[in-house]
Amino acid sequence: MDRFIEAAIAVRMGASESVLPVYAFQSKVPARLAASALRVSAKAAATAIADAVRRHTARAGRPPAVVAIAGLGAFVLDRRPAPNARPRLPNVVALVTGAAQGLGRGIAEELAGEGARIVVGDLNAAAGETTAADLNRRFGAGTAHFVTLNVTNLVSAQAACAEAVRRFGGLDLLVSNAGVLKAGGIEDLDEAAFDLVTAVNYKGFFLCVKAAVPILRAQHRCQPRHTMDIIQINSKSGLEGSNRNFAYAGGKFGGLGLVQSFALELVSDHIKVNAICPGNFFDGPLWSDPKQGLFVQYLKAGKVKGAKTVADVRAFYTSKVPMNRGVTPLDIARAVFYLREQAYETGQAVPVTGGQVMLK
Ligand SMILES: NC(=O)c1ccc[n+]([C@@H]2O[C@H](COP(=O)([O-])OP(=O)(O)OC[C@H]3O[C@@H](n4cnc5c(N)ncnc54)[C@H](O)[C@@H]3O)[C@@H](O)[C@H]2O)c1
Repeated sequence: MDRFIEAAIAVRMGASESVLPVYAFQSKVPARLAASALRVSAKAAATAIADAVRRHTARAGRPPAVVAIAGLGAFVLDRRPAPNARPRLPNVVALVTGAAQGLGRGIAEELAGEGARIVVGDLNAAAGETTAADLNRRFGAGTAHFVTLNVTNLVSAQAACAEAVRRFGGLDLLVSNAGVLKAGGIEDLDEAAFDLVTAVNYKGFFLCVKAAVPILRAQHRCQPRHTMDIIQINSKSGLEGSNRNFAYAGGKFGGLGLVQSFALELVSDHIKVNAICPGNFFDGPLWSDPKQGLFVQYLKAGKVKGAKTVADVRAFYTSKVPMNRGVTPLDIARAVFYLREQAYETGQAVPVTGGQVMLK
C-alpha cells in the first residue's frame, strides 16, 4: 500500500475519540502549528504511527492538531462546526458514487446534513462539481469534494477511494449508487446495452468494493473497534423480476449475491455490507427528465394502455404503490442511517418501496 495512504489512515485511526476527527494533508507543517506538531519518523510503521497518535491523544485529552511525518508531509486537524445540534454521522467519511444528480445527490445531501464528509464521485464532472459546491455552501467549507469517477474502471475507483483519504483522512462508508437503466424486450435490447447496464450496475459495484477494501482493512488493523459500511443502492427490481427490463433486474439480483458474499468475507474486518432496495423515484431525472425520462419514454412506447400524457403515465405507476407516492432521497437516507447505526446486521437487503414489494 502507498506510504501516504498508510500514514493518513494511521493518523486518523490513532486519534481514537468516540467521534473520529478528520485530517487534511498538506505538504508542509503550517508555520503557526510547527511548535505543537507531533513528529513521527519517516520509517515508522502504520501501527507505530497510530500508537504515537493514540498516546498523544490520551495524554492531551484531544487529538494532535498536526501530525508531521518526516519525508511525507503534515496531516492537519480539520475541525468544523457540526451542521446540527446532534448530528447522526459526525465526521463519517462517505464516498457516494453517482452523486452528481438523482438519488445519489439526494443521499449525499442528507448525509452531509448529519455531519458526514462527502466524496462526490461521478462520471459527469460538470454536475458533480456543482453538487459538491452546493454541499460546501449549505453545510460549510470542507464538507464535500468532487472526484471524476468511472465505476467500470478499477484504476478510477482506486483513485476515488484514495482521494477520500487524501481529503478527509479515511473512508468509513461506501455508498455504491451509480447506476444506469436501459429497458427493452429480449428481441429489442442489443448486446451493447446489456453490457453497459451490467458493467455499471453489477461489475461497477464489485470494482468499487475492490478499490475500497484495502483502505478499510488497513483502518481495521490500526483501530480494530472501528466499524465501516458498504451499502449498495439496489432496487425493488433486485427483489422481483421487471418486465422488459431484464438487464437491469438481472444486474440488481446479482448485486444482492455480491452483497451477501462480501458480507461474509468482510465481517471479520468489522465491515458490514448491506443493500437498500428503493421503489421508484418519480421526481428524479431518471423518471421526470422532460426529454429522456422514463415517463416520456413509456408514453411514446405506448407502455401504459390509454395514457395520453406524461401525467397519465405517472398516475398509473403511482397507483401501484400502496402508499401512493414515489420514494424520496430522504426515505433512502433514513435506511442508510439505520444500516450505519445498526451494529448487529450484515448481508441484508432493506426494501424502501412504500409497500410495493414485500419480502417473502
Ligand atoms: N430512480 C429510481 O426510480 C430508482 C429506483 C430504484 C433504484 N434506483 C437506483 O438508484 C441509483 C441511482 O439512480 P438515479 O435514478 O438517481 O439515476 P440518475 O441517472 O439520476 O443518476 C445516476 C448517476 O450515476 C452517474 N453514472 C452513470 N454511470 C456512471 C459510471 N460508470 N461511473 C460513475 N458514475 C456514473 C450518472 O452520471 C448520474 O449522475 C441507481 O443504482 C439506480 O439503479 C433508482
